[in-house]
Amino acid sequence: MRLRVVYIIPVLALAAGVSLALGGGVLSEHGPIPSVTGAPAIRSKAAELNCTLCHLNFDWNNLNTPGGSVEILGLPRAYAPGQTYRIHVRISTDSTKVFLDRDWGFELTAVRASDGEGCGTFVLDDPDTLQIVSGASGDRSDLASRWYVQHTANGVRNGISSPVEWTFSWQAPATPQDSALFYCAGNAANGNLDSGGDFVFTAAETVLDSVTTPVRPMSWGAVKRRFRD
Ligand code: HEC
Repeated sequence: MRLRVVYIIPVLALAAGVSLALGGGVLSEHGPIPSVTGAPAIRSKAAELNCTLCHLNFDWNNLNTPGGSVEILGLPRAYAPGQTYRIHVRISTDSTKVFLDRDWGFELTAVRASDGEGCGTFVLDDPDTLQIVSGASGDRSDLASRWYVQHTANGVRNGISSPVEWTFSWQAPATPQDSALFYCAGNAANGNLDSGGDFVFTAAETVLDSVTTPVRPMSWGAVKRRFRD
């Protein structure tokens, strides 16, 4: 019951279009507040919350419900400095199937493994459906160096059936900066304009830095030896 009181207030305030500084973050134009990808604590950076901060159910746990997922696709095993990669975020679930007005959304960030600061640059080819926002400010300003790709009001794929996908690019840092850690939270919302009945998923991927952690080319003989027994 206490939870209900605490969380229903921000939800109502945001629904009324009030820009609310919550946990230091400010709601961007029709997208989620920054720094809610579910990224864990890294060095001096505290863990991020996820979309269930507001899109929560009071009678069941709606985080990573079996049968659904958010996936970060297209990432290389290791990045080359300055190289640009196409990334696809895909949400799959049939949990909101019966809701014809269902909506979908996500938020993704990339951080350096060494210190949790933002890593690389996001590039959008469709600024109508996606946007880039900077990290939380205020008492979460330790996350300010991070950048987040997220859906806009036009990017919620209204009424589309699972799976849904968004595509954008990530340009690796120009100089080697250790592994890049990607974190993403996705929301399959039922579109009833209420925080309940939505399904939230999280994902994490690691992309090595090809300079400091070289991917060693293997001779054909070595490959055969590896699979011989
Ligand atoms: C601070 C509270 C808050 C957080 C955190 C939050 N949202 Fe929302 N979100 C809202 C409110 C309020 C609405 C508008 C009411 C509604 O539609 O549910 C909304 C609406 C949406 C909608 C479209 C409307 C719908 O419900 O059908 C999507 C999609 C969405 N959010 C995705 C996300 C994703 C993805 C995250 C996490 C990365 C997230 N939200 C985090 C408050 C929040």
